[in-house]
Amino acid sequence: MSNSESQASINDTVTVQTEQGLYIDPAALTAHFSALEYHDEALYIEGASVDELAQHYDTPCYVYSKQAILDVYQAYSDSFAALEHQICYAVKANSNLAVLGVLAKAGAGFDIVSRGELMRVLAAGGEASKVVFSGVGKTRGDIEFALNQGIACFNVESVAELTLINEVAQQLDKLAPISLRVNPDVDAKTHPYISTGLKDNKFGIAHELALEVYTQAASLAHIDIIGIDCHIGSQLTEVEPFVAALDKVIELIQGLSAKGIELQHVDLGGGLGVRYIDESPVSIEEFAQALLPKLTELGLTVFFEPGRSVVANAGVLLTGVKVLKPTQHKNFAIVDAAMNDLIRPALYQAEMAVIPSKLPSRGIDTEGTQPWDIVGAICETGDFLAKDRLLTLATDDILAITGAGAYGFVMSSNYNSRPRAAEVMVAGEQHQLIRKRETIEDLYANETLWQNED
Ligand code: LLP
Repeated sequence: MSNSESQASINDTVTVQTEQGLYIDPAALTAHFSALEYHDEALYIEGASVDELAQHYDTPCYVYSKQAILDVYQAYSDSFAALEHQICYAVKANSNLAVLGVLAKAGAGFDIVSRGELMRVLAAGGEASKVVFSGVGKTRGDIEFALNQGIACFNVESVAELTLINEVAQQLDKLAPISLRVNPDVDAKTHPYISTGLKDNKFGIAHELALEVYTQAASLAHIDIIGIDCHIGSQLTEVEPFVAALDKVIELIQGLSAKGIELQHVDLGGGLGVRYIDESPVSIEEFAQALLPKLTELGLTVFFEPGRSVVANAGVLLTGVKVLKPTQHKNFAIVDAAMNDLIRPALYQAEMAVIPSKLPSRGIDTEGTQPWDIVGAICETGDFLAKDRLLTLATDDILAITGAGAYGFVMSSNYNSRPRAAEVMVAGEQHQLIRKRETIEDLYANETLWQNED
């Protein structure tokens, strides 16, 4: 690259946008992530060298820092220490048993959306009594299982669900603890696919109908009203929408109180955003400072359901460069991870950083630095992990996609008959395989040939 400085518009210390593409300064980026650091120009996650991990476990491979997960959990817990609170980690963000186990041991509760997630929580040593059950489509079987396990609360999303829960609880001769998930009609100002608190979204019970549905709930013999819940979206970088949602919820709590319905807890969902490249989300401490005065006045126990913010920046996806394919119009680096491993760029136009495992000669002005599209080997034009990134690449280089700890592995698939990646956890210099790479045979182990006579 030549003349990069004169063409560049520097938006912060981490990125430089040029006409050819986006340069991300790897060392400046990793300074924002507690688990990642370059030592002697080699990338480490905690005390483990990324190159050594890639060699040991092969690529593509997800790697998570245990400490980074615990640090965020602790930051939530400390920031709300003045209140009775329960942090219910949203299992959907990363449901590996090791991740759940580490959080369970630290005292976390869990937000689940399926029986499968509840079984994972229990298998990881989590307590059912700290589990809240969200989701718009709970089945009779889900409800029965959750009631038998003794979960803390069902976050009810419709009148039909309320009726079903009451019916199942009656059959089991139990009382079902519930919150209504209210939809406060607040704009979360995030990607439309991950915004959930608007009237147009399928989630929750409309704010205007909430009091009526609570009254209905109060008349059901096997329903125990214990709380109120809302979740307005994901990857929120500002605190205002949370405050606006809380205001609407407080209004409802007062309305309920006037009707003689007293609650024990308020659940504000998840949604706090993270820095992927150069976003500047509010910190957990700032988030708490903005909410604490109103929450303290309420005097109820507070639940949160954070997912992304707990695990995103604890994780990286390691991938190897397999084929370099410069063309007249674009340079493609074909890597061994693909959209089946990490679908966020394809599905949400998510921009995630791609940084090299070794630093020397990888600066923006290095000879050989070029704009690359980092793509997978899948037969889809949408199969890209990043576009127009200024990098110096060679075949067999190891790259780390950062911010991949949340909604990474959990959203992966076997498209193109690709085995899902291995997952590894690192603590200090120790590392452990926490999910072995699938084999190709695993992919069709549950399939059978057509056996009838033709
Ligand atoms: N609670 C409920 C009811 C939720 O629906 C969600 C996320 C959470 C908590 C956790 O939100 P978080 O703290 O992670 O923002 N796959 C998308 C994100 C989907 C979020 C769905 N609901 C992505 O990769 O961006």
